[in-house]
Amino acid sequence: MKRFYVTTPIYYPSGKLHLGHVYSTVAADVIARYKKQQGYETVFLTGMDEHGEKIEKKALEANISPIEFVNEKQEEIIKLWNILDVNYNIFSRTTDEFHVKQVQKYFSQLLENDDIYLSEYEGKYCVSCETFVTETNAKHDKCPDCGTELTLVKEECYKFRCSKYIDEIKRILENDVIEIKPESRKKEIINSFINNGVPDLALTRTNFTWGIPVLENPNHVMYVWFDALCNYITMLEKHEMMDFWPANIQIMGKEIIRFHVIYWPMFLLALNKPLPKKMFAHGWLLMNGEKMSKSKKNVIYPDFLVDRYGSDAVRYFLLREIPFGKDGIFTPENFVNRYNADLVNEFGNLINRTQKMITNSFPNKVMQYELTIEDENLFEKLNAIESKHDELINNLEYNKDLENTWFLVQECNKYIDLTEPWILAKEDKKERLSTILFNLMYCIMKINDLIEPYMPNTNAILNESIAFEDEVIKITKQIPILFNRLDKKEIDLIEENMQ
Ligand code: MSP
Repeated sequence: MKRFYVTTPIYYPSGKLHLGHVYSTVAADVIARYKKQQGYETVFLTGMDEHGEKIEKKALEANISPIEFVNEKQEEIIKLWNILDVNYNIFSRTTDEFHVKQVQKYFSQLLENDDIYLSEYEGKYCVSCETFVTETNAKHDKCPDCGTELTLVKEECYKFRCSKYIDEIKRILENDVIEIKPESRKKEIINSFINNGVPDLALTRTNFTWGIPVLENPNHVMYVWFDALCNYITMLEKHEMMDFWPANIQIMGKEIIRFHVIYWPMFLLALNKPLPKKMFAHGWLLMNGEKMSKSKKNVIYPDFLVDRYGSDAVRYFLLREIPFGKDGIFTPENFVNRYNADLVNEFGNLINRTQKMITNSFPNKVMQYELTIEDENLFEKLNAIESKHDELINNLEYNKDLENTWFLVQECNKYIDLTEPWILAKEDKKERLSTILFNLMYCIMKINDLIEPYMPNTNAILNESIAFEDEVIKITKQIPILFNRLDKKEIDLIEENMQ
C-alpha cells in the first residue's frame, strides 16, 4: 500500500482561530483527500501547540489554569475543523502524556550526545511568536514578524549546538534533499538566515513553568518550538505509525518556515531520524493591506462565513482566489463576486440548466447516440483538463487546478449555447437532444470528481443524485439548487462581521 503523510502547523490556542489559520488546514485537507481518493494510505496531522509563555499568560488573564484553558480551546478548534469538513486523522496535543515523555527522551538523548549544553540567554524575545529575536532583526524593539513589543530576557538555559549542523543544513537545502516550495523561500532562508550565521538556539526557558519539564534540571522547561516541532514524529510513535515517517509534505505559513527548514532538520539529524521530503510555505491572507491577525484587529472568523455560505464556498474561495505560496487579499467584495461568478453563474447554472432540460424531455435518463464534431471537441477539452489535474494538485497549485476545472465548466456552458438543445426539444429531435444532455451530464460527473477534494459537500450531493450505469446516465434524485445568488447587501453584512 502506498503511504502519504501530510502535516499542518499545530496552532497556538491562545485565541480564536481566524480565516488565515484555516487556510493552512484546508490546504492540507485537500491534498490528504486527494491522496485518499487515489488509494494512498494517508495520515493527516493537525493539532494544538499548547505550552509556552503566551498560553500561560492567556490562562492567567482568564483566571484559569493553563490546562483548563487549553482543554476549552480544544473543543472550539475541533468544532471548527468539523464545520469546515477538515478530515484529519491525528489531532495532536503537546500536553499529551506520550508526547511529553517522548520529548523528554529526545532531550536526554541530545544531552548525552553533547548536542546541548548549559549556558545563558540574554536578548530579546517575542512572546507572541515565541521567538528569540536577534539585535539586527529587531525593528525598534518590535518583532519583525508580528510587530509586538519585544521583552528583554536574561536567563539560564540549555543551548542546542546549531554550529555543529548548520553546514549540513545548507548542503541539504542547496541539494534539495528536502524540497522547499516555493523555490524563492529556499533562497530567502539561505541568504537572510543561514548566510548571516545561526547562533546556538536556547532550548529551555526558566522564567515561567508552563512547558515540558527538563528531567535533568527541573528549573527548566523546554522551549516551545522544540516541544512543538517534535509532535510531527511523537504522534506517529504514539499511534505506532512511524512507517509514515518521513512526511511527504509539511505545510506551513511563510513566517514559520525557518523553524521548519533550519531547526527541525537539525533536531532530526541529531536524533538520527530521516528528514521530511517536502515543505511548502504558503503566503498570508491579507486584510486592509496587512496580515490578517488578531493583534492587528483585522480578522474575519470562518464560522460566520461557513454558517452563512457553506463550507464548500469558503474552501473554494480560499484555494481559488489565492495562488498557494503567494499572499492574497480577503475582501467581502472578492468573496461575494467570486461566489456569484464562479459558483452561481457558471457551475450552479450549468447543473440547473442541464437537469431541467433532462427532466423536461426525458424521464430522468439520457443516453448517447451518434457523436458530432462539437461533441468530440468537448471531450477533447475534458481529456486535456483531466490530464493536468494530477500534476497540479500534487504540486499544491490549487488555484491553477480549480481554474483548469472551471475552464471545463465554461466550455460546457458554451457547448449548450452552441448546440441549442432547446431548439432540438421543440423540433422533437430526441436522439440528438439525448446525446447532448448525456455529454453534459457526463462532463458534470467528471467535474464532480475533479472538485471532490475541494468541495466535499457538493461532491456528495451530486454523487447521490447522478448515476451512470449500462451506458445510461440517470438523475436518481432531484439535484437541489447548490448555490443561490448573493445580494450586494451580503458585502455589508460580511463587512460588519470583520473585527
Ligand atoms: N504554534 C506555531 C506552529 C508550530 S508548528 C510545529 C504557530 N502557530 S500559529 O497559530 O501562530 O500559526 C499557525 C499557522 O497559521 C502558521 O502557518 C501561520 O502562517 C498561519 N497563519 C496565521 N495567520 C495567517 C494569515 N493571516 N494568513 C495565512 N496564514 C496565517 O506558528
